[in-house]
Amino acid sequence: MKKLKWKLLLSFLLVLSLAGCHGQGERPRDERLYEDDVTSEREDYIVVGFAQVGSESDYRIANSASFRETFCAENGYYLLFEDGQQKQENQIKAMRNFILQEVDYIVLDPVVETGWDEVLQEAKAAGIPVILSDRSVTVEDEDLYTCWVGSDFEEEGKKAGLWLENYLEKTGRDEDEIRLVTLQGTPGSSAQIGRTAGFSQILGRHPNWQMLECASGDFTQSKGQEVMARFLKSYHDIDVVISENDNMTFGAIEAIEQAGRTCGPKGDIIVISFDAVSEASFAAMKEGKLHADMECNPLLAPMVDEIIRKLERGESVEKIQYVEERCFDAFMDLDAIQEERKY
Ligand code: AHR
Repeated sequence: MKKLKWKLLLSFLLVLSLAGCHGQGERPRDERLYEDDVTSEREDYIVVGFAQVGSESDYRIANSASFRETFCAENGYYLLFEDGQQKQENQIKAMRNFILQEVDYIVLDPVVETGWDEVLQEAKAAGIPVILSDRSVTVEDEDLYTCWVGSDFEEEGKKAGLWLENYLEKTGRDEDEIRLVTLQGTPGSSAQIGRTAGFSQILGRHPNWQMLECASGDFTQSKGQEVMARFLKSYHDIDVVISENDNMTFGAIEAIEQAGRTCGPKGDIIVISFDAVSEASFAAMKEGKLHADMECNPLLAPMVDEIIRKLERGESVEKIQYVEERCFDAFMDLDAIQEERKY
């Protein structure tokens, strides 16, 4: 009997200690979100919830930094930043938490284009304007979001095709049989859809360009390397690699070198990339391993800031706003270009 009493007391203490194991500052994430609802600390600020895609690339790191720098207390903002880890369900959950917390604005960078109608409807019902940044959405009702700011991905893809067209002409290869492969970004993302569509427009006017295969490397270096290694095993005669972002390109260059092949103007395979964000992409062009890079400008936060300021003043904003972008190649004075660049 005595033993049983002790057992009961121990179980009771264990339950108590488990219940209390989330001490202050250690409460489960969701509980924290609900309880710490717009506190007085936030009252003087414009509260912005940002549902970011993830941290898959150099572009993304620069883009997140742009938001953190711009949406700071000195500028009158309280930023709630959520990294979706490239999963739509995480981003939807983040948006629902922002709605519960009654933020003033939601900024969404949607990992893929479809599947947003319901949560956007919820934000609209709560009276929270949603600004899309970088990638966009395909929805039944365009009024579900306020506006979108980002890159013209289709134009980027077209520029890549035109660059190749021009390069082959200049090097006297415009009549040759050209065999290409494409490392695509996350399937269904605006960046993948737009770049693929834009490049296809130029591909379509060259019957001598043969696209051997397009496969996704999910915008990451490791997957880019993995897919490129497989391409090299399957096709021995690749002339051109179109890589839909720089991180996949870095992986592809590694795979090419590991396979005992070379690429870039100093090598054998033509490589065309997108982003031109990091030091590394310029270094690859300077080293002669990468031919050309279509810029994807990650500095979108100042544009979103301007939109929010306008909305705060009750002004109207343009529905679609493109950011300025250029095309760089290994034959330009890249040192001079880098000196004047902000990132
Ligand atoms: O949506 C922009 C794309 O997403 C960038 O090209 C890529 O690097 C990122 O992951």
